[in-house]
Amino acid sequence: MIADFREVMAAVATPVAVVTTMTGDQPHGTTVSAFASLSMDPPMVLVSLARTSELLARVRDSNRFGLNVLGASHAGLATTFAARSGTSRFHDVDWTTEHGVPRLNGVPGWLACEVTDLFDGGDHVIVLGQVLAADRSESPPLVYFRRAFRTTSRR
Ligand SMILES: Cc1cc2nc3c(=O)[nH]c(=O)nc-3n(C[C@H](O)[C@H](O)[C@H](O)COP(=O)(O)O)c2cc1C
Repeated sequence: MIADFREVMAAVATPVAVVTTMTGDQPHGTTVSAFASLSMDPPMVLVSLARTSELLARVRDSNRFGLNVLGASHAGLATTFAARSGTSRFHDVDWTTEHGVPRLNGVPGWLACEVTDLFDGGDHVIVLGQVLAADRSESPPLVYFRRAFRTTSRR
């Protein structure tokens, strides 16, 4: 059943984002596909992070996170921010601090969020965030589908 579950979910096309936070002057970021809009009033999002995630530990500490929604040209960023910890993921990445969290310059979607709740979900933790700031630019999205990075096209 687990193998089939994996295959079903691999065939769900998802957006891709880098979730970031700051602890002290240390930026951290992790690639995620499990995020969604949750509420409009107040504006909220949810992100699902593995219990073992270093980012989760840091978000618990900082209580803030940035959601950097990636565009079609950002598959390299998605790979960099999914790499095993130890390497500095921000090396050679163009970023600034906004609302106390790292913003990756040039990505099509940007949210700064304050953590409002954390809920256990199996081996993951669902992080709820209230949106403090949002910004966007027009560009095609990065999509993860069948374990590969793609983008969308009009039918
Ligand atoms: C396309 C893609 C989507 C991912 N989605 C998630 C996700 O939604 N939640 C998660 O916890 N990890 C996700 N990962 C895995 C993390 O990026 C990866 O395990 C990372 O090394 C965790 O880093 P950290 O321990 O510093 O937080 C994803 C990886 C890729 C390549």
